[in-house]
Amino acid sequence: MLTFRTIKSLTQCLSGYRTSGLRIGFVPTMGFLHDGHRALIAESVERCDITVVSIFVNPAQFGPTEDLERYPRALDADHELCRKAGVSMIFLPDASEIYPPGFQTFVEPGPVAGPLCGAVRPGHFRGVATVVTKLFAIVQPDVAFFGQKDFQQCAVIRQMVRDLNLPVEIVTVPTVREPDGLAMSSRNSYLGPTDRKRALCLSRGLLAAQAAFAEGERDSGRLIAIAQSQITAVDQLQYLELRDAQTLEAIHGLVDKPVALCVAAMIGPTRLIDNVLLTPPRTALSDRDLEVVSCAVDRQVNVGGQGSRPS
Ligand code: PAJ
Repeated sequence: MLTFRTIKSLTQCLSGYRTSGLRIGFVPTMGFLHDGHRALIAESVERCDITVVSIFVNPAQFGPTEDLERYPRALDADHELCRKAGVSMIFLPDASEIYPPGFQTFVEPGPVAGPLCGAVRPGHFRGVATVVTKLFAIVQPDVAFFGQKDFQQCAVIRQMVRDLNLPVEIVTVPTVREPDGLAMSSRNSYLGPTDRKRALCLSRGLLAAQAAFAEGERDSGRLIAIAQSQITAVDQLQYLELRDAQTLEAIHGLVDKPVALCVAAMIGPTRLIDNVLLTPPRTALSDRDLEVVSCAVDRQVNVGGQGSRPS
């Protein structure tokens, strides 16, 4: 496994592989890697000849009062996880390598970045879209892997790839959960034992709504109420919403197409997000729907091995 800190050294090495016709897979991350990241890497290692992982805590996607400075870092452990998982190259740039003096061009996503996290974290998806575009231009991967855990991020990236004709295939990998249901996240490391317990109500609520959906509940208001009745131990519920799985438009009334039930909440000082997909079994899925829900409906990953299968 090779580690590169500069764009020049990485691109020189990658161009050799590209001309040999090897398929390049790419997993962008901010480090402090866990089993969620590992699932993305495993998918890339399985599908591609070369897997590149970037570790870059992107300042452009953090707001002025957010956790950029204290975002958790564990480079040695990240290296070890990548090595064991079969990663070929790690890209570990400094902020000045990605945003050199004089940098001034940003990618501005459209309405898909408007609601949910886009409303709570203004500018966040502009920062994500900009860094991912730059990383795509640097790595020039055939395929890039993103987690369903950040559902809106996946939607923003897919839309951006379509709109800008970026020559990369996007694969969405299902959310990896702890055995007790909590969605894995680097930010879970902020949670003390009491907050960790309280955080469980998020997945409990989403999974309760998913179970009701599997049993035939199709009323959006009732599905949200079922989730909300469990999500009581949070300090601030930022959103709990049903959204079209493709466009992220709001869903009212009957659920008759693939939707995502998305939540964001503060548990003490920690902001957590989670979501589940609800896919009516008889929905005639269009190609675009299939893109979004492809991996995600196949299986729900749980490192404890008790993954439940969404309907
Ligand atoms: P980060 O939070 O490190 O996540 C990197 C990738 O891992 C994202 O695609 C995210 O959705 C995925 N991921 C995180 N937790 C997961 C889980 N429990 N199950 C499955 N996948 C999971 O997302 C970012 O970094 C950044 O915004 C980035 C895309 C790197 C741009 O800076």
